[in-house]
Amino acid sequence: MNINGDLQINKVDICCGLSWGDEAKGKIVSNLASSGNYDFVCRWAGGNNAGHTIYLNGKKYKTHIVPCGVFNNITSIIGPDCVIHPESFFKEVEYLRENGFNEKCIKISPNTHIVQHFHINEDKEKYGYQGTTNNGIAPCYGDKYLRKGIRAIDCPDLSEYIWDEKLWGNVLCEGAQGFWLDINYGNYPYVTSSTTVPYGACSLGFPPQKISKIYGAAKIYDTRSGTDPDFPETLLEDRDLMKLVEIGGEIGTTTGRIRKTNWLNIDKLIFACNKSGTTDIIISKVDIIEELGIFKLFHNEKIINLNSINEMKNYITTNIISNCPLVTTIIYSYSAETI
Ligand code: IMP
Ligand code: MG
Repeated sequence: MNINGDLQINKVDICCGLSWGDEAKGKIVSNLASSGNYDFVCRWAGGNNAGHTIYLNGKKYKTHIVPCGVFNNITSIIGPDCVIHPESFFKEVEYLRENGFNEKCIKISPNTHIVQHFHINEDKEKYGYQGTTNNGIAPCYGDKYLRKGIRAIDCPDLSEYIWDEKLWGNVLCEGAQGFWLDINYGNYPYVTSSTTVPYGACSLGFPPQKISKIYGAAKIYDTRSGTDPDFPETLLEDRDLMKLVEIGGEIGTTTGRIRKTNWLNIDKLIFACNKSGTTDIIISKVDIIEELGIFKLFHNEKIINLNSINEMKNYITTNIISNCPLVTTIIYSYSAETI
């Protein structure tokens, strides 16, 4: 046992979603990773319910479970509080290998739980009403907490990928899903079964004192993939919002479903910033709202109408600065930009 292991960590930066997932975390993490400043990129929660889209040298890549570090040849850890479906994992590894990426940098914690076939069947049969991604996530975490699951260490197929559980240098943690899908914070039971907020990242095995920056990913409008009474079906009848779906390409990476789309709820965004400890907020898809030409958001549960993209950005900035004391940087990001 390496009893001093944690002390060799210089710092940990975290990127988390502040909304319901699909806030361009993949893009942010792969950009941060390409800086050459990180020794590890780690996923701390979830399984292949996540869908990350990454653009590299003009080419589009999609991953579900392997952290974005693989695109920069950085050791990429699937953490102990993740769940992994071996068949889907091997498919993804094959896809990455075919595209010239180094699979040797992919590592899995010995304690990562295995999604089994019956978990996927149970998810489809019992949890359809929650609009899950049908990847067996809830049944697998259920078995983990009932202490009858199977872990990566029990699974001979995965032996060559098992991580030695050491971290050092600079660590980047890659969130999956978003704040409002967290098992403790979201609109239960319309949540996922893991901790999507940075407190969960400590499960990777570093002391909380090592956390430096927390990058919070948001979008300039809200989207929800899957069922949630806070995003009623009637949103699909709103012409302006459906235009937003079309311009923004709001179709799920993992499920292919239309994401229910609504104007930004700034109260929820401020809450998520404060609870997650966000220091740097990145608000993406500004160009999509600009192209739509309608500048609305919810504040104090009322619709606020603004006249231009600049007015909208100023409104958001002013409210974040005055309500989120931990936030030091606000970045507005356009779809075609890096960050
Ligand atoms: P599960 O994680 O498959 O159990 O799905 C639970 C809920 O979380 C469903 O409403 C899903 O649509 C949603 N969800 C899970 N993962 C993601 C994600 O990566 N992006 C967006 N929504 C997600
Ligand atoms: Mg996604």
